[in-house]
Amino acid sequence: MNDGAGAATPARKSKVRATLKGRQPKPQARAEVRQMLGDAPRRRDLLIEFLHRIQDRYGALSDGHLVALAAEMGLAMTEVYEVATFYHHFDVVKDGAAAPPAVTVRVCDSLSCELAGAKALLDKLPKLLGKDVRVLHAPCIGRCEQAPAATVHQHPVPHATVEKIQALVKARDLSHPAARDRATFAPESFIEPLDTPGPGSTVSPAYVGYDTYRKAGGYRLIAECLAGAHDAEALIQKMEHSGLRGLGGAGFPTGRKWRIVRAEAQPKVAALNIDEGEPGTFKDRVYLERDPHRFLEGMLIAAWAAQAGACYIYLRDEYHGCRALLERELARLKADPPCALPVIELRRGAGAYICGEESAMIESIEGKRGMPRLRPPYVAQVGLFGYPTLEHNFETVYWVRDILEKGPEWFAGFGRNGRKGLRSFSVSGRVKKPGMHLASAGITVRELIDEYCGGMLDGHRFYAYLPGGASGGILPATMADIPLDFDTLNQHGCLIGSAAVVILSDQDRATDAARNLLAFFKEESCGQCTPCRVGTAKALALMQQPKWDAPLLQELSQAMMDASICGLGQAAPNPILCVTKYFGHEIS
Ligand SMILES: Cc1cc2nc3c(=O)[nH]c(=O)nc-3n(C[C@H](O)[C@H](O)[C@H](O)COP(=O)(O)O)c2cc1C
Ligand code: SF4
Ligand code: FES
Repeated sequence: MNDGAGAATPARKSKVRATLKGRQPKPQARAEVRQMLGDAPRRRDLLIEFLHRIQDRYGALSDGHLVALAAEMGLAMTEVYEVATFYHHFDVVKDGAAAPPAVTVRVCDSLSCELAGAKALLDKLPKLLGKDVRVLHAPCIGRCEQAPAATVHQHPVPHATVEKIQALVKARDLSHPAARDRATFAPESFIEPLDTPGPGSTVSPAYVGYDTYRKAGGYRLIAECLAGAHDAEALIQKMEHSGLRGLGGAGFPTGRKWRIVRAEAQPKVAALNIDEGEPGTFKDRVYLERDPHRFLEGMLIAAWAAQAGACYIYLRDEYHGCRALLERELARLKADPPCALPVIELRRGAGAYICGEESAMIESIEGKRGMPRLRPPYVAQVGLFGYPTLEHNFETVYWVRDILEKGPEWFAGFGRNGRKGLRSFSVSGRVKKPGMHLASAGITVRELIDEYCGGMLDGHRFYAYLPGGASGGILPATMADIPLDFDTLNQHGCLIGSAAVVILSDQDRATDAARNLLAFFKEESCGQCTPCRVGTAKALALMQQPKWDAPLLQELSQAMMDASICGLGQAAPNPILCVTKYFGHEIS
């Protein structure tokens, strides 16, 4: 199944009509769309890729182009339109209406960036940059350790200031340095050194390209697997013994997931999740920028063990540098393969947090709106294109090679306070050294701050922390000695999720943080179910009152947790409930 036409390619239903209904495309728009699509197959699942091509070329999606694209792909106009309008990064404009300004500046105003002054940037920039530049607020762009973070078109601006943004706009320096010039692509020039003291520091050195990775024994393991030197059952047992659990947030045991998918009938596929949208999380980007092949080999081994014949990698649109890097490294891998490769496709998100949820991601890869599916059936049974799907977070498969080569005991040998394994903590907020800190599972936040983060920022006293990003709740500093791991926080109404730890100080308020998080959830709710769509909006409105109506918020939270389809609506009340439970002094 490595020719792109194997059993795991999309099971398409032909929707081509003999004559088109509704609006007819104009010849010029049709010709332009045809030119952009070239000889690419007009597959439904490529719809979002095609929308990107048009948006990249024309700066917006005009009605005329959408009609032409629908005709070209044999889709109803509504199918194209509903997808185009679902994603934040697509600008749909009426024919004849002005396209948005050529330059868009996005300033992240999720929690860590708000703490670092994003609001002031958002206030000042529109006036200073003028009419030709559009300034938008954006949800977390995965650079929380560089807060406040912004992008000028596709150029990331770490530690953003008005001056830095003005300079990039003036120079029309709009692409990620890594993506600008493919010929002189040098990833080592744009990654910052990874300063991760502690037990696992050697696993992530400076940038490792294809040649270096292979020279150091990379891809030997997958080649051996394919040559029959390893038994899949034995490998799955090793994964089970390592105790590795899904690092996308849900913590499902990895070995068990492989076993479940392996037991399903062929054909099967693998879907890799690099959506990394949970505010506070940036660990996948940090590893991907440094060691992409460790991830790719882990993916190939996982797919081999589960007998998945194709791998679809879903990368968030905000990671333009990572996309350039992955495209480059995948091309190298395919040009000089160490073994037979399955179909590997890289897909580009379009700005929607909900597409990190596994079934929404699958919908998005299929070229649709990212709306979570009802379960059962689970994606392991009926997933991408209707096939049983092994779905994994980037970091989960990143560890596969190390675990299998060094042994499950190596991974399980780390751990503190009674817990086992390693965790990649994305730490941001009021600490001296924010960043991705690889530490033992079970470390407490107090230990993390003191041993890894250089302590609190000068002038700040530790007040509260988020143990697991926007969804994981908020705890007071008095509860700083809980081991951080799966299962240890549930009894306190919290979750570790993707291990995104945000530190608040005495200069912050938990209520302000909770309001920021609810504003995020309200904006990112896909709108499919009422408790989440209406509940997030209603909760935010209540939280904006000078005095919180705690009983009403409690009732609303319960309804959202009980009746929402997916984890977004179920976890959105966590910050509210934590504030009422632990920070009563702020709302009374
Ligand atoms: C609202 C929501 C957003 C999510 N976002 C991500 C994400 O950005 N990346 C990710 O890997 N998992 C995310 N997840 C978890 C996935 O649904 C899924 O559990 C995970 O990707 C499975 O892979 P794993 O077992 O390797 O963790 C999200 C879940 C929810 C409910
Ligand atoms: S809970 Fe929210 S995000 Fe999830 S499906 Fe329902 S409306 Fe969409
Ligand atoms: S980049 Fe701003 S909060 Fe993550």
